Amino acid sequence: MKIFSGSSNPKLAEKIAKFLNLKMGKLELSRFSNGECRVWIKDNMLNNSAIVVQSFSYPPDQHLVEFCLIVDALKRQGVKRIISVIPWLGYCIQDKVFRPGEPLSSKVVANLLHSVKINRIITLDLHNQVIEGFFDIPFTELFATYTLVDYFKSHGLMIDTVISPDVGALKKSTRFSESFNVPLVVVSKKRDIKTGQVSITGISQKVKGKRILIVDDFISTGGTLIQTAQFLEHEGVEKIYACLTHHFYIPGVQEKIEKSALDMLYITDSIQAPTKLKYKKLKVVSVAGLIGEAITKYK
Ligand code: R5P
Repeated sequence: MKIFSGSSNPKLAEKIAKFLNLKMGKLELSRFSNGECRVWIKDNMLNNSAIVVQSFSYPPDQHLVEFCLIVDALKRQGVKRIISVIPWLGYCIQDKVFRPGEPLSSKVVANLLHSVKINRIITLDLHNQVIEGFFDIPFTELFATYTLVDYFKSHGLMIDTVISPDVGALKKSTRFSESFNVPLVVVSKKRDIKTGQVSITGISQKVKGKRILIVDDFISTGGTLIQTAQFLEHEGVEKIYACLTHHFYIPGVQEKIEKSALDMLYITDSIQAPTKLKYKKLKVVSVAGLIGEAITKYK
């Protein structure tokens, strides 16, 4: 068994390989002169199994097509079984038709993945668990919760209250509040569907003087996190931490977070940062072990 990495997250792929004591497969990724993706598997994988690691992070369309081509190339070589590790399952934000005339993007992506005939998907913290129902192949959703909780506990970080910034984050934040054995408080968030502007309108409980942990699945524009932190600062909290799984690293967003009321953001390496990170308020916690352990169950 070998691990093949697309171009989205080679660092995580290498960490998973190290965890499992597996070799990285050799492949060449290039472009035809018209910009189309070109894949060449250089190992002979006949009758072997393969793990393909790729997040559908920015640029998502490119990473999605690259992934499908890697899988197809492996299949055509006679690979027996393919486990795909897709830490960020892109297009899962459009998990419903919000307005008539929109596509059901996550279902379209599921259909695409079926078409290249992978044998299992391992992913991490879906935006909405309903997405699993779009897949007819064995599907494992992992939760970064316990990796992040372990990190907090081993670094002596103390939490008094967990905050869910919206109803969507309730399940995930409940897992955190139960792990820390602290109350869960919900803030009410509104987002303008046209401008994307986020505003926080209220909180279910007083949090003055508390050490807060905001829990959510991803950061895109940073609006949710920054507005929630600002609201909490006005409420008189002592410390504001945030634990999230996916950071899209949209240019300028982390810079805004650095200037916000947030004290520290803990994020996983589900998505590889585009440049070397040099931020004071960002700590990346690896999920390579979590994914590696899951792979050992299915390989
Ligand atoms: C919402 O459903 C998501 O879980 C996140 O709370 C949110 O969309 C993050 O996006 P942004 O960083 O743009 O506020």
